[in-house]
Amino acid sequence: MYRTLRRIRSDWDRFAEADPLWAVLTHPEKRGRRWDKCAFFETGRHEIDDLMHYIGTLGVEISHRRALDFGCGVGRLTGALAGHFDEVYGVDISPVMLDLARGYCAHLPNCTFVENTNPDLCHLLVKDFDLIYSCATLQHMPPRFAKRYLRCMAQRLRPGGLLVFQLPDRSLSSIAGRILAILYEEIYRKHILRTGPSMDMHGIRKPKVISLLENNGCRVLDTVQNQYAGKEWICYRYAAVRY
Ligand SMILES: C[S@@+](CC[C@H](N)C(=O)[O-])C[C@H]1O[C@@H](n2cnc3c(N)ncnc32)[C@H](O)[C@@H]1O
Repeated sequence: MYRTLRRIRSDWDRFAEADPLWAVLTHPEKRGRRWDKCAFFETGRHEIDDLMHYIGTLGVEISHRRALDFGCGVGRLTGALAGHFDEVYGVDISPVMLDLARGYCAHLPNCTFVENTNPDLCHLLVKDFDLIYSCATLQHMPPRFAKRYLRCMAQRLRPGGLLVFQLPDRSLSSIAGRILAILYEEIYRKHILRTGPSMDMHGIRKPKVISLLENNGCRVLDTVQNQYAGKEWICYRYAAVRY
């Protein structure tokens, strides 16, 4: 396994062992296992209901056979997608997250959880997805990996299938602020303080994302700016359809 992916997996395993619901939705007041399980999963149902409504506004018809939730965590969105699709696959790099997801979604026979530690989706045996959704995941890995996963996702859609994901474009912090943050995170916190796991943030500029999608058989239908990555980032939700 790639060294960076091994580190990412270990960090997410540690988050999942310590405070899994907060690691997925980092509301400050919910830190320390303060998320109520029902309220947490309700956020997933709301998000997927909004997503389905949004898809309805895009002017394309999708089938509801097979969906993929990339970076599924504890299954917050996978479980909600199960109400809309015949089969739903949740893919994640962290086996600890996946065990939790299997437990939380045990009552949903149409959910399957798959561990993927590769820098692509070649080992995922299923393809021909009608919808691939990814939220709060591609931002937590170096762009070279996010780009590779996006290419694979585009290629795993059925013709007419939709890829919807959220990804930051750039940080609003000054260059000096960004350099200081990287030095603090990469050198001081990881190697000197040796504290707990880290949740790195990365972005890819929007024109690059659009050309990557277009070079991999997709047409971008819509981009919407949002605050999913916090106030310090310009972030977009992308929706693209496969030819
Ligand atoms: C902030 S959580 C979001 C979980 C889920 N998308 C949600 O919104 O409920 C990010 C998830 O991405 C997963 N992840 C990080 N890097 C990944 C990778 N390279 N491949 C698959 N999953 C990854 C982590 O293990 C973690 O479960």
